[in-house]
Amino acid sequence: MSRIFSGIQPSGDLHIGNYLGAVKNWVALQGRFESLICIVDYHAITVAYEPQVLRDRTRDMAISLLASGIDPERAVLFVQSAVAEHTELAWIFNTLTPLGELERQTQFKDKSSRQESIPVGLLTYPVLQAADILLYKADLVPVGEDQLQHLELSREVARKWNARFSPDAPFFPEPKAEVTKTPRVMGLDGGAKMSKSLGNTVGLLEEPAAIWEKLKPAVTDPARVRRTDPGTPEVCNIYHLHKAFSPPETVQHVAAQCSTAGWGCIECKKVLFESMTKELTPIRERAAAIRADPATVKAVLRAGADKARAIARVTMREVKERMGFDP
Ligand code: TRP
Repeated sequence: MSRIFSGIQPSGDLHIGNYLGAVKNWVALQGRFESLICIVDYHAITVAYEPQVLRDRTRDMAISLLASGIDPERAVLFVQSAVAEHTELAWIFNTLTPLGELERQTQFKDKSSRQESIPVGLLTYPVLQAADILLYKADLVPVGEDQLQHLELSREVARKWNARFSPDAPFFPEPKAEVTKTPRVMGLDGGAKMSKSLGNTVGLLEEPAAIWEKLKPAVTDPARVRRTDPGTPEVCNIYHLHKAFSPPETVQHVAAQCSTAGWGCIECKKVLFESMTKELTPIRERAAAIRADPATVKAVLRAGADKARAIARVTMREVKERMGFDP
């Protein structure tokens, strides 16, 4: 059976962009593949942070993932820092990765441009990501499209290590990205991608009333100025959210109503709100139940780390052996 690995930073509440772009896919894949889902807390400290906030967010992310349907019986859910082999392998990969490749990563250029003093960890972030994936010899990595460049780097690291230390038969498989149907969810402000740092998100666990307050003013087709103007569904973010949350019949109906000016945007948003509530309410309720039982969350993460560590140790033994270390 192929193995999938994916990671998510414990950076605040999971929002519907993360949910549609990645998490929903993980839930769909977990029965069909051997799945490892990792809360990557070591990645999260490459930017300024507060220890207590990190602790809370790590727990909150675990709760959100479990509430979204990650099933500990079918997927290994764990926290990166609980498995020391991630950083051990990352160090090894650091010695194989050219500086220029890391400086070319768009995410690095983006994040470092906003900082005066740039931590080396921000630069080598993708090396740790390569270690995450290759430690488990994962074949598939379900991610949003913003991670494709990092994935390419992971493949290069695998090729490099294989060529140097395992030239006859590749030891590490070259992991392939598996991009979701909804790879990029736009923010409600009509501009960029939905992202925590831009403050244009809808939280997965937000109360319906709060979601409606955000949907009401959300940007639609900018060319549709008057109620009687027909709209173009494909350019409207609300329509794209319908495609993610509403059943196909509704999506068709919405497109027809929009392009003939049968509905105004507010009517369309009301229908979207209903579809979203239908999908998100059970998740919010499950999250509340899971939150009330912290011992279980801890036990799930501990058991996940134990399973992950068992796989990681086997990989590291062989890696060290081939590299000339006494394993
Ligand atoms: N960089 C990823 C993100 O920000 C998170 C991540 C870390 C990851 N390690 C990974 C994703 C390994 C996939 C596989 O979304």
